[in-house]
Amino acid sequence: MERTFLAIKPDGVQRGLVGEIISRFETKGFTLVGLKFLNVSRELAEQHYAVHRQRPFFAGLVEFITSGPVVAMVWEGDGVVASARKIIGATNPLTAEPGTIRGDFGINIGRNLIHGSDASETAKHEIALWFREEELVNWQPHITPWLH
Ligand code: TYD
Repeated sequence: MERTFLAIKPDGVQRGLVGEIISRFETKGFTLVGLKFLNVSRELAEQHYAVHRQRPFFAGLVEFITSGPVVAMVWEGDGVVASARKIIGATNPLTAEPGTIRGDFGINIGRNLIHGSDASETAKHEIALWFREEELVNWQPHITPWLH
C-alpha cells in the first residue's frame, strides 16, 4: 500500500492548525500509520531538505523548521502521494488554490504550513529518515475497507 510523509511545520503548530490539517487527510479517507510530535534537530532538517542545499533559501528553511515543534506523520492509501500534494496545494500559498491547506491558511512561501513528499521514491526516503519501522502501525480500518 502506498505511503507518504507529511509534516506540519512550526507555523502550522504555532497557529493552532494541527487538528484542522490532520482532519483534511482523515476525512478524505486516508489511513494514519505514523504520528509524532518533535523538535527537529539541525541534522535531520539538513538531511530532509538536502536537495535544496544550494538554494538561497536553504539556511532560512533549516532555521525555520528547527524553530519549534513539528508534527511528523505517515499516511497510507491508494494514490496518497499525489492526492496529499493536491490537498496541500502549491508551494506558494498566495497562488495555491482556495480549498487547499496552503490556499486556505497561508500567505507566505516561507511559512506554508505543511510538507508533503513529492513522489513515491521521495516518500520512502523521507519515511525512513523520520521514522523507525517499529514506529509505524500496520492496520486497516474495519468499517471502511472500500475506501482503500
Ligand atoms: P519545494 O520542495 O520546492 O516545495 P514543496 O514544499 O511545495 O514541495 O521547497 C521546499 C520548501 O522550501 C517550501 O515548502 C518552502 C521553501 N521555499 C522557500 O522558502 N522559498 C522558495 O523560493 C522555494 C521554492 C521554497
